[in-house]
Order: sequence, then structure tokens, then C-alpha cells
Amino acid sequence: MIANSPKDKYQLSVAPMLDYTDRHFRVLMRQITKKALVYTEMIVAQALEHKTGKKLLNFDEVEHPISLQLGGDDPKIMANAAYLADIWGYDEININLGCPSPRARSGNFGACLMTNRDQVSKCIEAIKKQTELPITIKTRTGIDHLDSEEFLKDFIYSLANDGVDRFIIHARKAWLKGLNPKQNRTIPPLEYDKVERIKALRPDLKIELNGGIKSPEDCIKALQKFDGVMVGRAIYDNPLLWKNIDEKIFDENAQQTDIKASTVIKGLIPYTEKHLSENGKLWDIAKHLLNLVHGIPGARNWRRKLSQRGQTAKASIQILEDAIKILEDSGM
Ligand SMILES: Cc1cc2nc3c(=O)[nH]c(=O)nc-3n(C[C@H](O)[C@H](O)[C@H](O)COP(=O)(O)O)c2cc1C
Repeated sequence: MIANSPKDKYQLSVAPMLDYTDRHFRVLMRQITKKALVYTEMIVAQALEHKTGKKLLNFDEVEHPISLQLGGDDPKIMANAAYLADIWGYDEININLGCPSPRARSGNFGACLMTNRDQVSKCIEAIKKQTELPITIKTRTGIDHLDSEEFLKDFIYSLANDGVDRFIIHARKAWLKGLNPKQNRTIPPLEYDKVERIKALRPDLKIELNGGIKSPEDCIKALQKFDGVMVGRAIYDNPLLWKNIDEKIFDENAQQTDIKASTVIKGLIPYTEKHLSENGKLWDIAKHLLNLVHGIPGARNWRRKLSQRGQTAKASIQILEDAIKILEDSGM
């Protein structure tokens, strides 16, 4: 077993999830954890070549520490995206080498780049000329028939030689032909042992585990063997399950604070007011609140009310104030 010492800075991260972990959800997560690293949804580097695409990079100061996830295969375009990430103030750059979607495949980025290590190396080299930000890789254990342990080892070791700072391994392979992205997150079996052996063989490499982690307890267990843990669906589906994670994982001596659904929403009020004043819609933020409430009498009713009122054209901050009141009355 590999002791996790000295402790890695980012022992827990919130996985990038397209259409879910947008900036509003990331600000919500900051009401729950100040320490976990958050990732942007994947941004296709090509989109940042255009003036209008640059707004994709905007984020709120409270989101730090934040990693920009890029998809792309063109060294010049990736380097330009990294340069912009540096100017915008991101803490890290993450290259997506795990997305199995047809769109990623047709653009030659994501998981299909696992078959083209040289191209990835060229991207890393070009990025390094533009920025000193840490570069991390999010990848799979293999793709299609390239799924041996030797293949994964060679892939990781060679990228480590290129200067990658950390590896986040979604511990299942991707089938590019035959499975859609959703199936690729459930059907190929999890292979924690494969990732564990790579970490054991190369303890000098920073390796984080991703895939199928369900609870803070799972994380703590995984941190005995890995440098970090990345969690996606189990965080989005139940953000409050992760309350006090900072104390549990990052600083066991810290005092636990009482984080509730109502306090999370209260914390979001100033941010929401700002969003509304900039012509944003309440629902952009309110849709992420639905999973804050689980297992209390009336939870379904609370969600239904918030959905109905929150999606109207004139939805105002009062809707959140009312939602908070109901929760406070039930001690939530
Ligand atoms: C709706 C959805 C969107 C996703 N979008 C991305 C993405 O943009 N970039 C990426 O690297 N992974 C993406 N993923 C994969 C997750 O980051 C993660 O690797 C996967 O869900 C496994 O982790 P989990 O079992 O903790 O959810 C997505 C997953 C989901 C469910």
C-alpha cells in the first residue's frame, strides 16, 4: 500500500462534466468545499480562437482553485488556449484524453488521442512554451483493443517524461466504436487495480483515481493508495453528502461547520443577484439546487415548486428567499 504522504494539494477534485459543472455549479460547490479542485467543463481549444469563444473562459474568483480542461490536438491552438488560461488566472491546465464522444473523435481529441502519443507530446511541448501553469492529463485505462497494462504504463510514463504534473485516470477503458458516452461511463468495468499497480510501480508520479467513487468514505479509502480522487456524479447528485469534506480530507483538525441546504442557498444569494443584474436567468443557478434536498418530508414538493417558479421568465431572487424559508422551517 502506498502511503499518501506528504499530502497532495488536491486530494479531492470535482470532475469536469459537460452541462453540469458550469460556473454556477462550481460556485455552489464553493459553499461546501473551499479546498477541492474544480474543473471547467471541457472547452474545445479551437473555440478560443474566436473572439466570442473567449467568454467561455470567464469564471468567478471564488472558484479558485480551478483547472481549465481543454480538448484539442493542434499544438499551436492548444498553446494559445493555455496562454489565455494563464492570463485569465486559471490555476492549472488539464488536457482531456478521455472523452469518447463522436464529436471528440471527429475533432481528433479526447480519448482517441490515446493512440497518438506523439501528438499529445507536441501539444504539451507547445503549451510549456506559453505558460508555467501545471499541466495535468485526464485519461482512461485504454481504448478499444489498446487496453493492456503495458499500453497504459507506456502512455503514462512517456507523458510524465514530457513534463505532465499529475494524471487523473478514469479507471475504465473507453469503447469508441459501439458504446455512446453514457454507456462508456458505466459498461466498461472499473479497473482500480490496474491504476493501483501503476502508482505502486511509479510512486514518484502523481496519480489520481476517478470513476465510481460514491462517498467521502470511499475517497478516504482511495487516498491510502492514490494521490488524489476525482468525483463526478456522486457530487453532482448529492452535493451535501460532501459537507465537511475539507475537514475530513484536507485538515482533520479544523472545526466542522454546519453546512445545510439553506446555508448553501443563502451563500449563493449575492452571486445570484449579480447574475440577474447582468441579465442572467435565475434557472441557470436554481437548476443546480434541486439535488441539495434529499430525504426530508416534502423534498419532492420543494423541488417541484422551485422548478415551476424558477423557470418562469420573471423569476426573481424572491424565489430563492422563499425556498430558503421552507428549508429553515424544516431545520434543513
Ligand atoms: C454528464 C457528464 C458530462 C461529462 N463531461 C465531461 C467533460 O467535459 N470532460 C471530462 O473529462 N469528463 C467528462 N465526464 C466524465 C467525468 O468527468 C468522470 O470521468 C466520469 O463521470 C466518471 O466519474 P464518476 O463516476 O465520479 O462520475 C462527464 C460525465 C458526465 C456524467
